[in-house]
Amino acid sequence: MHSGRLIIFAAVLGTIGLTSCAPEAREASTSRFSRQSFGRTDTGEQVELYTLTNSKGVTAAITNYGGILVSLKVPDRAGQLADVVLGFDTLDGYLKGHPYFGAIIGRYGNRIAKARFTLNGVEYRLAPNEGENSLHGGIKGFDKAVWTAKEIDGGKALELSYLSKDGEEGFPGNLAVKVTYSLNDENELKIDYTATTDKDTVVNLTNHSYFNLAGQGEGDVLDHVVTINADRFTPVDSKLIPTGELRSVAGTPFDFRTPHRIGERINDRDEQLILGRGYDHNFVLNRTGEGLALAARVVEPKTGRVMEVLTTEPGMQFYTGNFLDSITGKGGKVYKQRYGFCLETQHFPDSPNKPEFPSVVLKPGQEYRSTTIYRFSVE
Ligand code: BGC
Repeated sequence: MHSGRLIIFAAVLGTIGLTSCAPEAREASTSRFSRQSFGRTDTGEQVELYTLTNSKGVTAAITNYGGILVSLKVPDRAGQLADVVLGFDTLDGYLKGHPYFGAIIGRYGNRIAKARFTLNGVEYRLAPNEGENSLHGGIKGFDKAVWTAKEIDGGKALELSYLSKDGEEGFPGNLAVKVTYSLNDENELKIDYTATTDKDTVVNLTNHSYFNLAGQGEGDVLDHVVTINADRFTPVDSKLIPTGELRSVAGTPFDFRTPHRIGERINDRDEQLILGRGYDHNFVLNRTGEGLALAARVVEPKTGRVMEVLTTEPGMQFYTGNFLDSITGKGGKVYKQRYGFCLETQHFPDSPNKPEFPSVVLKPGQEYRSTTIYRFSVE
């Protein structure tokens, strides 16, 4: 089912796991890879903050609590670095509850209607955590798991593993998941997801970073100029569940096939924008085959920062932080409505109940594979 045979990148990244964690080995690669304590969870588990650094000084800091991308510092057109993702300075901020800042989402990204689905004639009941629906994996999704972390690829990448047990949040099958964050010298942050199961199950993994290319906390994102490579999107009902229709974007505020400011049409009296309180929709990406394809390009005109998103996935949730409500984040910055946007690469929401959507079923013997690249540059 899952696309993404990564011929080009497989060669670059390989799977050179460091079997020994000798301090000397870590010393030698401190310029690329570093690790520091990030505190303890409520159950006393120690978690770390890992920082990847490339030759241009770009850094990505990731914690093994929820696989959260805590900070991402990229240059503007003057070479000035700024942190372009929302989040917290300390683990505590994340433990108190938050709208999935930077987190790995699973076992199922976005919503499953009425928190249930039927697979092979068996109905599975999930833990509802948004009214009667399941959102982003349930009450304790992958965003709240403590992952096992390993430095790989000579310090250019962090591999996170997690075993989601049979029945966790109601999902069938033991699911062994790996998520690898890699940072290369071309300012590309790549996330590879793989998973295997011992029972038929459903899987849909993503990352929930909120971006502000002007710098986190620096106002709203309405001036960002967005292009999305999608002719269609999946309209939703009042509970933000797709109706099943694949609707043309032509003539609607969802047409981002040419660049538009986020703010240009966001307050239009459009039924779908009203339901989402802004953009909160899955776009059906235009693809010509398997493999990585350009999904979106975002430009922040003041700083010149550009982010491109490439993915193997068929869909992408464009969410404009409509539900952000004065959260105090990094450096005491206050995140208000629309202070960040998410581009969550994914299979379509509620696919387990929509047989007409691309399948999210994973069977024993198959491997789930998904890759997304966030590529940074300036213009
Ligand atoms: C969903 C939004 C939700 C947000 C934070 C997005 O993926 O589509 O509706 O509010 O995540 O939970």
